[in-house]
Amino acid sequence: MGDASALTEREAETPDVGELTPPDRTLMGPGPSDVHPRVLKSMSTPLVGHLDPSFVEIMNEVQELLRYTFRTDNKWTIPVSGTGSASMEAAVGNLVEPGDTMLVPTNGYFGGRMKSMAERAGGEVVEVSAPWGEPLDPVDVERAFDEHQPDVFGFVHAETSTGVLQPNVPELTEIAHEHDAFVIADCVTSLGGVEMRVDEWGIDAAYSGPQKCLSCPPGASPLTLNDRAMDKVLDRDEQPRSWYLDLSLLEGYWGEDRAYHHTAPITNVYALREALRLVAEEGIEERWARHRDVAGDLKAGLQELGLEMNAPDEYWLPSLNAVRVPDGVDDGAVIDHLLEEYDLEIASGLGDLEGDVWRIGCMGYSARPKNVEYVLAALEDALAEQGF
Ligand SMILES: Cc1ncc(COP(=O)(O)O)c(C=O)c1O
Repeated sequence: MGDASALTEREAETPDVGELTPPDRTLMGPGPSDVHPRVLKSMSTPLVGHLDPSFVEIMNEVQELLRYTFRTDNKWTIPVSGTGSASMEAAVGNLVEPGDTMLVPTNGYFGGRMKSMAERAGGEVVEVSAPWGEPLDPVDVERAFDEHQPDVFGFVHAETSTGVLQPNVPELTEIAHEHDAFVIADCVTSLGGVEMRVDEWGIDAAYSGPQKCLSCPPGASPLTLNDRAMDKVLDRDEQPRSWYLDLSLLEGYWGEDRAYHHTAPITNVYALREALRLVAEEGIEERWARHRDVAGDLKAGLQELGLEMNAPDEYWLPSLNAVRVPDGVDDGAVIDHLLEEYDLEIASGLGDLEGDVWRIGCMGYSARPKNVEYVLAALEDALAEQGF
């Protein structure tokens, strides 16, 4: 037993917490992005049960909308309950079995996360190298395949830490398939904003997050697997190490049975449905074009301010603009100035690029000309404050 008088004192204390009044930020960082008002509204609609017939219908609709957005006919297309890392771990933890070898990239922060997840799944990890700020070269991928014969190959389509887009995806998947390997694509910062064609490009499993180009709060994260990948998952000798993310169990809920597995985050599923409805209304190809156009103006404006992009033009990632911090400028002071004076969020560099770049997102509902003008004007002021 604890000290009785201390307990009494604690019991007497009522937390004095006021009403929730978060600041009204403009979100131009690496995610979350600004949420569309229609998505916010969907989150204040009444809850139904996670097995309610009306919710089962909503689940079907979300799956159909996800297939449209991923450009896939994959039956196994679901929102995983959790953030992007949950859909990532569902892909890696189910496809990598103990004793399997997974090939992962070294050219950014999230390849490192893939490595940790594959190791925890009992896999052996081998790497294909490229510098931070460059994409993978298919020649290096082929060499790594010849040398290590991996069972699973993961790559990051849109590397949020470096602002680099991986081109040549069909070339990479072809190499992997010639070696009978499975391909996992990280589309967290590309889905719904940058061209991604799961079926046409031969991707076996792809995962994403809702809070980037889909402009939806985090909580239900897209995942798709083709039949070939799902056959491997269902044919495993050993159960995946995570019960929660075991796709053979999740299939009971998202597949035909619709039986209880866990209580889905209903409100997040509503939000994702509305966010995906907005994608379908706009049209996926039009949406990719909007991101390219609006972010193109952002990139041009940043260059006019005298700033240099981290990624060369060929690998520029419209949804995440990594910009070099000029010599003599305090990157943190600029970020603070934007937040304090403009209620505007951008982010510093991550991992190896910490202190070297700012990361300015241009995603979903944040990818609007108005936001671009705002961020450029605010940044000009913040840089002037720094004598730049
Ligand atoms: C490329 C990439 N992969 C994975 C993740 C992990 O997603 P989350 O932070 O939603 O768990 C992120 C998050 O920023 C990301 O940018």
